[in-house]
Amino acid sequence: MQNFQAILDEIYIDAKNTIEKGSIASYIPELAHVDKTNFGIHLRTLNGSEYGVGNFETLFSIQSISKVLALSKAMSLIGEAVWKRVDVEPSGHPFNQLALLEIENGIPRNPLINSGAIVIADILLSHLKNPKEDFLNYVRDLAGDDSINYNKSVANSEKVTGFKNYAAANLLKSFNNLENTVDDVLDFYFHQCSIEMSCSQLSKAFLFLANKGGCMKNTAHLTESQAKRINAIMLTCGFYDEAGEFAFEVGLPGKSGVGGGIVALLPDHYIISTWSPGLNKKGNSLLGMQALEQFTTKTKLSIF
Ligand code: DON
Repeated sequence: MQNFQAILDEIYIDAKNTIEKGSIASYIPELAHVDKTNFGIHLRTLNGSEYGVGNFETLFSIQSISKVLALSKAMSLIGEAVWKRVDVEPSGHPFNQLALLEIENGIPRNPLINSGAIVIADILLSHLKNPKEDFLNYVRDLAGDDSINYNKSVANSEKVTGFKNYAAANLLKSFNNLENTVDDVLDFYFHQCSIEMSCSQLSKAFLFLANKGGCMKNTAHLTESQAKRINAIMLTCGFYDEAGEFAFEVGLPGKSGVGGGIVALLPDHYIISTWSPGLNKKGNSLLGMQALEQFTTKTKLSIF
C-alpha cells in the first residue's frame, strides 16, 4: 500500500518552490482576480479513501471541465445521436480556434473544444425542461453535494467579452448545427462554465467515470461503454493542442479548465483533481500538469 498523503505532500512542497507559476486567464475579466499562489490537490480512491493538500477545499471556476459533465448528460439523454453533430478527433488546435470548424462544414472536431461544447449545450437546451436548473441538479447529484452552484458574475463577465464564442455559435448556426438561438445557447454555456467547485468536489463529481458510470450514490448515470468513450475523448482531446503532451507526461484521461483546474482519473482506481490558477501557453494549468506528472511517476499508477 502506497503512502498517498506523503506523495501529495512532496508534490506540494515542489509546487510551492517552483518560481514560474504561469499566467492567470484574463480574457474572462472576473477570473483575473484570483490569487496565483493558490495550489491544491485532492485524491479519491475507489474504495473511498481521500487525501488532500493545500487549497483542496477552496472553490474555483471549473470552466471547460464542465464540458465533460455536459457531454455525459447529453449522452445519457440522446445516446449515439450526439455523434451526428460532433466528431471525436483531437483538433491539434487551441480550444477556441474557428478555422477547422469552417473548413469542416460546422461539425466540431470534438465535444471538448469550445465549438463542440456549444453544440452539446444546444442539445441540453433542446432536451432539458429547465436547462440551467436541471443541469445544476445533475452535477449536484453526481457529486452528492447540493451546495454546488453557478457563479453569475463569472457567467455575465464571459457574456460581455465572449466574442469568439459568439463567432463559433454563429458559424454553427450558419451550418444548421444549432437548434436554439445563439443567445440562448451561449447563456446556458456561460452558466455551465461558471460552475464553482473545489478539488474535493470535483473528485466526487468525476467518480462515475472511474466507476463504470455509477456515481457517488451508486446510481448508474452512464453505461460502462459510455464511460469508456468519454474517458477516451478526455485522453485524446481533454487538453486541446497539448493532449499529446498530457498523455505523454501523465498518462491519464483528464480535463483542464482556464480557471486552473484539472481532473484526471485511472478507471477502477482513483480520481485526482488539482487547482493552480497559473496557466501555461496552451491554456492548461502549469503546476497542475507538473503535479500530475509527478503523481503518476511516483506512484506508477497510470493507464500505460
Ligand atoms: O468558453 C470559454 O472560453 C471558457 N468558458 C472555457 C474555456 C476553457 O476553460 C478552456 N480550457 N482550458
